[in-house]
Parts: sequence; C-alpha cells; structure tokens
Amino acid sequence: MTRYLVTSALPYSNGRLHVGHIAGAYLPADSYVRYLRARGRTVRFICGSDDNGVASLISARKENRPVEELTRDYHDRQAADFAGLRIRFDVYGGTHHPDFVETHNRLSQAFFRAIPDKGFFTKKKTQQLYDAVAGQFLPDRYVKGTCNFCGYREAYGDQCEACGKSIDPLALINPVSTITGTPPEPRETTHWYLRLDRFEQPLREWLEGKRDSWRELVLNFSLGQIKQGLVERAMTRDLSWGVPVPLDDPDAAGKVLYVWFDAPIGYVSFAAKLCEELGEGPEAYARWWKDPDCRIVHFIGEDNIVFHAIIWPAMLLAEGTYQLPHQVVANAFLNIKFPGKEEEKVSKSRGAAIWIEDYLKKYDPDPLRYYLTTIAPENQRTTFDVEDFIARNNGELGNTLGNFINRALTFTVKHFEGRVPPAGARDQRDEAQVAARATQAEKVAAQLEEFRFKYALYEVMELARMANRYMDEKAPWTQRKTDLAACGTTLNVCIQTIRTLMVVMEPFLPATAEKCAAMLGLRSIPMWDEATDELPAGHVLGEPQILFKRLETAEL
Ligand code: MF3
Ligand code: ZN
Repeated sequence: MTRYLVTSALPYSNGRLHVGHIAGAYLPADSYVRYLRARGRTVRFICGSDDNGVASLISARKENRPVEELTRDYHDRQAADFAGLRIRFDVYGGTHHPDFVETHNRLSQAFFRAIPDKGFFTKKKTQQLYDAVAGQFLPDRYVKGTCNFCGYREAYGDQCEACGKSIDPLALINPVSTITGTPPEPRETTHWYLRLDRFEQPLREWLEGKRDSWRELVLNFSLGQIKQGLVERAMTRDLSWGVPVPLDDPDAAGKVLYVWFDAPIGYVSFAAKLCEELGEGPEAYARWWKDPDCRIVHFIGEDNIVFHAIIWPAMLLAEGTYQLPHQVVANAFLNIKFPGKEEEKVSKSRGAAIWIEDYLKKYDPDPLRYYLTTIAPENQRTTFDVEDFIARNNGELGNTLGNFINRALTFTVKHFEGRVPPAGARDQRDEAQVAARATQAEKVAAQLEEFRFKYALYEVMELARMANRYMDEKAPWTQRKTDLAACGTTLNVCIQTIRTLMVVMEPFLPATAEKCAAMLGLRSIPMWDEATDELPAGHVLGEPQILFKRLETAEL
C-alpha cells in the first residue's frame, strides 16, 4: 500500500509566522495529512526550521545577537505557533538545531559529494560582489539593486520579488551592499555550479507527466523556466554559517553549501532523525525517499516553486538514488485588509500582518483554520479581510455549523434524557438526509484527493447547511407535541449527521471535531470509512457545549 511523506516548506528561523505563511505551506499540508490518516494511510509529516540561510545572518546582525541563539529562539516560537494551530508534524527539526545538525550535515555532505563524480558540477572561478568596507564576499541576499529583467528597483541579488525570476547578482543594475550601503566591487572566487542545463529534458518530461494532477500555478511557472533555458547555478557560498563544503580541495576551504542546497535535504535529514528515534535504524529513511511505494508531497508557498519543481528535482536526479516528488502543492500569497483601510500586501515593516502568536493569545485555532481554508489562495492571491473573517466566524461557523450541532444535542439532552433516540420509521425526507451524509463525505474526499481544500471544506459546510434545512423542515419542537416517535427519528438523523460532520470536519477543524466527539459521548474520532456508521439507539451522549464564540470587530 502507498505510503506518504508529506513536507511543509522549512520556515526561516529568523522571524515570526503570520497568517500568510500558514495559508501557504502549513495548514493545507496538515489538513491533507489528517485526511490521509483518517483513511488509514501511513504518513510521515516532516517540517523544521531553515536555519542556515543568510536571512538568519541578516536578522542576527539586526537583532545584535549570535545567529545560533536567534535561530534557536525563532525555531521554538514557530514550533509553538504550529502546535497552537494544531498543525501536527511528526518531526520538527532544524537544519542547524543542536539535535539535528549532525545528521543534517552528514546527509547534506554525502548528497553533495555524490554529484562531482557524475559530472554534474562545474568548478568555476568567477567574479563575485565583494564589500571592501565589510571585508567579505556578499551573499546574493546582501545585495540590492534594479532587476535586470523587469526594472524593479528593490530586487535582491537572488530573486526578484516583482517578476519572480532568479537573478545573477552581477547582472543587477546599480548594486548596493545591504551591510554597509556601499557599492560592492567584483572579485574572484571559486564555486561549484550545478549543471541545471543537463536536466532540462528529464525535468520537462517529468513535469509534462503532471499535467492532469498538478496546479497550473506550479506547472506554468516551471515549464516556462525550462523553456527559457536553465543555466548552471552555484551551490556553494563564501560564508561561515552553514554546512561546510565536504571536498578535499583547498579551494573549498571556508565555504559552505548554498542554503537552497542544504534546506530541502532537511526534509531527508529530519525524516532520518525521526526514523532513528523510532528505532528503525540510520538507513530507514531510504524506505521513504528511495522507494516508489512512498509518495513524496511537498507543500510550499509560490515563491518556492522554482526550488521545489526545478532545482531540488535536478539535485535529486544529479545525486541519482532518490525519487522525485509525486506532488508539489503551491499556494499564492495573501493580501490583507484591515477595517477602514485599503487592501495591501503583507508587510512586516509596515505592520500589515496578523501574527500567529498574537492571534493565539486570544482566539481558538479553528476559526482561523476555517477562514484560511475558505480563502485559500490555491490559484491566485486572495485577501484576508478581517471583517470577512468575523462575519464567517459568526455566520458560517456559529450560525450554521455550531448552531445546528448545539440545537440538536441540547434538545436531545432535554427531551430524550441525553440518549440517542431510536431511529424508528424513517420517511423519505429522513432517508434523504441520512444518504446525504455518504454523498457529502465522498465529495469531501474527492476534493481532498485532488488537493482542493477550499472546495472540500465547502462540501463539509454543505452537509451542515442540509442538516439545518432538514431540522427546520422537520421542526422537532413541534413534532414533540404531536408525534414523539417521529421527533425521536428526526433527532436520531440529526445526531447521525453530527457524527459524520465530526469525521469530515476533522482535517479542517480538529479542535472542534474533538469537542464533537466528547459531546457525542465518544472517546475518539472514527476513521473516514466509518463516517456514515450510526450511533445505536440508547447511546449516552456527553455534555453539549458552545463550539464557536461570537467575535466583534471592535474587539479585534
Ligand atoms: N526557508 C524557505 C522559505 O521560507 C523555504 C525552504 S523550503 C526547503 O522560503 F525545501 F528548502 F526546505
Ligand atoms: Zn524582476
């Protein structure tokens, strides 16, 4: 049977997480993993911090503390954010975290060493920008200037935020060092370049084979890059923070692997560490990474497409013993709209963001999970609108989902001694509602199999809307006075519907699903295939509780 290795992009451990991060690479991955588990499939869900980047060095410089301390601190804070949102990885590593760095460096170095023998590296002396004032070569990220493709003036030396192209820092127009603000000068240095050009054809064929299953966002971008031609790209850097280049070559001294070389290997090294911890031995990771019975699924933000659909697969092909990802799921960015303000891009410097730490201080995880899924930027940018968030919390979650469950259960507690009433004689309307449970569960599953989280959640809510209509039409409060058995039948059908709702909502609203289980008097949430089993008459229910708090704009 197919096994799954699911990954979420390793966040840089140099800052806090905001709603845009969560909507992009983490929440959909968690929903997917929860769904797979409910289906009884074997999954490992891998994530951890990307500690080695120059991004961390820049932040450490800004915050004026050692980079080890900075990355450790943000690693812990981000891990707490994920836990608070019920995003539940099997392992949360860190590429420079004390518990992981040894395994990570060993596997990254072995990976790197496998490539020169096969001729996929060229060693080249090149000119590189050097900051004479700071006395160091400048990592791409430390250079800013005008994009040579589109003319955007704030482009960094690795990738242009405006046109998305990866940039050669030497081609930047009017470059400036971000360390000292001075114009850098080109100087000679040696680096190892991955021959991406050698992989154009296999990558194109592999991507063409994904036409029917991958998002267009990912395919169009990647195939477009190949069409323009792939050029070789340096996989080493002149830097003191990272994985040392593992070659017996005096030219390699003092250099580290390019962060985008070692970071995706974090997916491997954290998985390896997990295997070790589970007592499966140091080679067990190969069962996930090199065995075609395992499907590798990467969840990422759109700015990571080139790395996961081109460079990382090229690295895997160059190394030669790994398999390629089965699926790369990318999401676009989120804009944000605060009440009374214009919609804007998320910006840390202007404070236009909703930080997870802040959110979790006051609110439950599920309303945010719900909203971020309903606005999932699956094909293009979408907007986190604070007023819309409140309206949907109060309306869809409170009035539709929460209210139905609450009405049905409190009524049963009050009038049927908190036990599931007998199914009795179900009429056509009752049967239709009973059948809707299976139809909706299938629709949710079909959408999730295709990575359409927004539609999947829509189908969950369809079941809740149907349940409300059913209850309103049956009006058990009237039936109770005219036909107590029919009233029992109605509530029985409502309770069976709640049971199904609990199962199908769990990938999206795990905390609420758990509350439902308690309210239904169940110790755990049943598996997906049992979603339409029925609770027997006489089964004792738990205490009803309010599922969703109402929110007010002013309070937010
Ligand atoms: N740290 C990168 C970012 O936040 C993502 C790294 S993903 C990995 O954009 F594959 F390299 F791990
Ligand atoms: Zn550009």
